Amino acid sequence: MKVHLIAYDVSQKDQAEELYAYISEYYTSSPWIPNIEKIMQGGVKYFKAMHNNQQIGITGYVLKTPTLAETVKTTVFHDFRSKGLGKLVSEAIEEECRRNGVKKIMTTIFHFNHSMVAIKLKQGYTIEGYHPDHEAPGFHEYSLGKVLK
Ligand SMILES: CC(C)(COP(=O)(O)OP(=O)(O)OC[C@H]1O[C@@H](n2cnc3c(N)ncnc32)[C@H](O)[C@@H]1OP(=O)(O)O)[C@@H](O)C(=O)NCCC(=O)NCCS
Repeated sequence: MKVHLIAYDVSQKDQAEELYAYISEYYTSSPWIPNIEKIMQGGVKYFKAMHNNQQIGITGYVLKTPTLAETVKTTVFHDFRSKGLGKLVSEAIEEECRRNGVKKIMTTIFHFNHSMVAIKLKQGYTIEGYHPDHEAPGFHEYSLGKVLK
């Protein structure tokens, strides 16, 4: 069964607070996470990732140009990891971007995040760059991209 996405309305404080709580609890490898004010500023389209009528994670994207999207914060809650749902959330955000006219999708992934790199490579992304000390000193990142056909 596919994962489907439900958009957050980040202009609503309770929804921004919910997102912040999930990012704080589950997106723990990053030294920089957005605070509630930053989330409410917009710019990132965030979604609930739903599977079997249950929220199992979050995901999002930023339009860098009208046809280039960077996906962000793709996260599966702890209890649901290692069951193939990360792959489905990645597919769902790609599909959402496609539906919105995106022609190229990219993401940056920490060098130690082997499961996410593996997911993206298996979904046809290629490594387009390696960025030492990128998000912060010691937090090297790969950028991976895929042209959508
Ligand atoms: C990354 C994350 C979304 C993966 O979710 P998940 O539901 O556990 O992922 P899945 O079960 O769909 O798939 C994991 C895949 O990684 C593979 N994998 C896991 N560890 C691996 C490793 N060390 N090396 C290579 N592949 C690995 C698994 O084999 C599996 O692929 P397969 O089923 O084809 O064998 C989840 O760990 C998470 O939310 N992490 C915190 C947030 C995060 O880091 N997000 C990514 C930001 S870019």
